[in-house]
Amino acid sequence: MKAVLPGGTIGVLGGGQLGRMLALEAKRMGYRVGVVDPTPDCPAAQVADFHFEASFDDLEAARELASRADVVTFEIELIPSDILAQLETQVPVRPSASVLRTIQDRLVQKEFLKRAGFPQPPFTSVRDSREVREAAGLVGFPAVLKGRRGGYDGRNQVFVAGPDDLQDAWQTIGSRPTVLEAFVPFKMEVSVIVARGVEGEMRVFPVAENVHREHILHTTRVPARVSEQVQREAEHIACGIAEALGHVGVMAVEMFVLDDGSVLVNEIAPRTHNSGHYTFGACVTSQFEQHLRAVCGLPLGDPSLLSPAVMVNLLGDLWLEGAPPWDVVLSQGNARLHLYGKAEARAGRKMGHVLVFDADTDQALREAESIVAALRRDRSSPSCRRPPR
Ligand SMILES: Nc1ncnc2c1ncn2[C@@H]1O[C@H](COP(=O)(O)OP(=O)(O)OP(=O)(O)O)[C@@H](O)[C@H]1O
Ligand SMILES: [Mg+2]
Repeated sequence: MKAVLPGGTIGVLGGGQLGRMLALEAKRMGYRVGVVDPTPDCPAAQVADFHFEASFDDLEAARELASRADVVTFEIELIPSDILAQLETQVPVRPSASVLRTIQDRLVQKEFLKRAGFPQPPFTSVRDSREVREAAGLVGFPAVLKGRRGGYDGRNQVFVAGPDDLQDAWQTIGSRPTVLEAFVPFKMEVSVIVARGVEGEMRVFPVAENVHREHILHTTRVPARVSEQVQREAEHIACGIAEALGHVGVMAVEMFVLDDGSVLVNEIAPRTHNSGHYTFGACVTSQFEQHLRAVCGLPLGDPSLLSPAVMVNLLGDLWLEGAPPWDVVLSQGNARLHLYGKAEARAGRKMGHVLVFDADTDQALREAESIVAALRRDRSSPSCRRPPR
């Protein structure tokens, strides 16, 4: 296979923050970048060489991108896999349409994991109200009813305490095909970012420890505070999945660690991932550079950790009274600010993140939390209020 070398053009379907950071790394390495995304001036378009303002199901725009690119990739699972399949006749597409097809439907993904023998919470498909009644006996409670497609940050999910709540949950989720999954009393959530190259070679980033708030990733800490055995198991699962899928590129596997040290797969993202943002600053090679290397057919980079770190997400809630006081982050030498250039801040929307480096990750976490608290607090504190005229 011929490698796509610097000077070549990377076509990216999706123009959010993942596409933006991919484009930043690609530009640094001398590539040209084109993006398809419906939002004018989207985060990736601000960095890319060209942008087609088009929806993800616009085949013509995708074809136009492919005609100008040496390789096409994606940064979001919402891309119709049929569009990827069409592009495959034109240009190398990595990861492939078949990988996306397996992952983007939660039920298909879970059935793939089951067939391949990877551990996961008990689940069952729920397609209609008859299956809602049957599901009650199959999974056990508490449980979570999850939409099959398009879910992120806990959207399209309803917690179900007991069998009597199932019909209500089914209505809440809009009577659409779903998966009912046992709620797992996990001790910790971790994720593993693995890269697989065109020849099947793999490199694994350090296991990351994740804390979610209201189903949205809040912090990632690396290294994760897990035993060597859990670490090996998590890496083994992630590599096994990448191999079984025939994945090319970076992939994230979100997992639950239970009290007894067993590890269950929560879900797979066939792309760069929020819980891998720490790599862009804390590792020799970032997940974005690694993804580029994989899809371009280059040797994979060194994923080693340069410094223990904590990543904290900055959500739109911090913008409700205008731009946060950035000096809070900028005045701290061991903190690194990333902003995604999104025009509109909404509550719960990921607007940026901060990395805090410290050999002691408890200390890094305290600093990260106090940065976020200060970004929030500063404007409502009396000293920052504008004096009355
Ligand atoms: N079966 C479960 N048991 C316990 N907690 C769960 C379960 N499923 C989901 N959660 C919690 O909700 C979070 C989000 O769930 P999940 O990863 O399925 O959602 P998502 O909407 O696909 O999110 P994203 O794509 O943003 O990661 C999980 O990280 C976990 O904290
Ligand atoms: Mg998730």
